[in-house]
Amino acid sequence: MSQASSERIPTERLVIHNLARATDTRAGLAEDVRAGLSLSPKRLFPKYFYDALGSELFEAICLLPEYYLTRAENEILTRHADEIIREVDGQSLSLIEMGSGSASKTRLVIEALLRRQSELLFIPVDISASALETSSRVLLQSYPALRIEAYAGDYFDGLAALSEVKRGRTLALFLGSNIGNFDADEAHTFLCALRRVLNSGDALLLGADLRKSSEVLEAAYDDALGVTAAFNLNQLARINRELDASFQLRAFRHRVIYNKSAGRVEVYIESLREQTVSIRKLGMQIHFSEGERIHTENSYKYDLEGLSQMASATGFERTRTWTDEREQFSSNLFVCQ
Ligand code: AVJ
Repeated sequence: MSQASSERIPTERLVIHNLARATDTRAGLAEDVRAGLSLSPKRLFPKYFYDALGSELFEAICLLPEYYLTRAENEILTRHADEIIREVDGQSLSLIEMGSGSASKTRLVIEALLRRQSELLFIPVDISASALETSSRVLLQSYPALRIEAYAGDYFDGLAALSEVKRGRTLALFLGSNIGNFDADEAHTFLCALRRVLNSGDALLLGADLRKSSEVLEAAYDDALGVTAAFNLNQLARINRELDASFQLRAFRHRVIYNKSAGRVEVYIESLREQTVSIRKLGMQIHFSEGERIHTENSYKYDLEGLSQMASATGFERTRTWTDEREQFSSNLFVCQ
């Protein structure tokens, strides 16, 4: 378990805890890059997309015409946030969010809650301390009745810390199909860990992207403007910056494939030629053949049947689901049994 060191910002309504590993992401990044690029096939972890630039690039992705996910989930929350929170028992709720990012969709849930209760404790967890700081300040300015206790760290460090926070009836948010980065085992482990932090009667609102045609899916992850390509390749730029590596970004390209049988979009960085890259801080030389790929991300797509099974296998029940008009995306209420 990680040690939390609290950094108190001069306002009584905000505490940001920097979880140990987050204050030294470099150690995590270094070890994971060393291990991942020694594998065959090579791989990197999606959590390392989100440095300050990567988090901004992701915000830009959410504005792309091809990336329907954010707009669809926004549509659902705009229409149904009041109904969603009415489904959770209890007079006054606390709100947890895993991977809150800019927390712009969260506003819709916060506003619905503040129509029903006079105060709200919001507990966001995000890998990016900079995203947490910015989003927290903006939220506190908008909502005088809000208090924020934020955790900068990865999901599992965040969950370990959350189990210590005293709070009443809780609604947890895991939006945007963030769960899609997990394979089935990892999703199971994550949901069990989240369930342990919650009490029976608490609920999770889980945003899950739905299966659809490979054309629509591949366009969403390989947009014409090249923003997703920049987001993906930024991981190499980050390794250059933080680990003193020599990746030439122009010698690599962004690659996206919808693997229909696995129900996931696979994202890769592909080497355009045979080349050797040095990572000086790791004392490593990495060889790439022409066309060789680094697997940087999976984004799983779901159907309602699979979501029900996932819920019941982890101590939840999927009691309600809302979709957007075009049925591209789902918001699922998982109630703790
Ligand atoms: C933040 C994991 C939900 O999988 O759709 C977007 C990340 N990667 N475009 C997704 C992402 C490329 C996104 N999640």
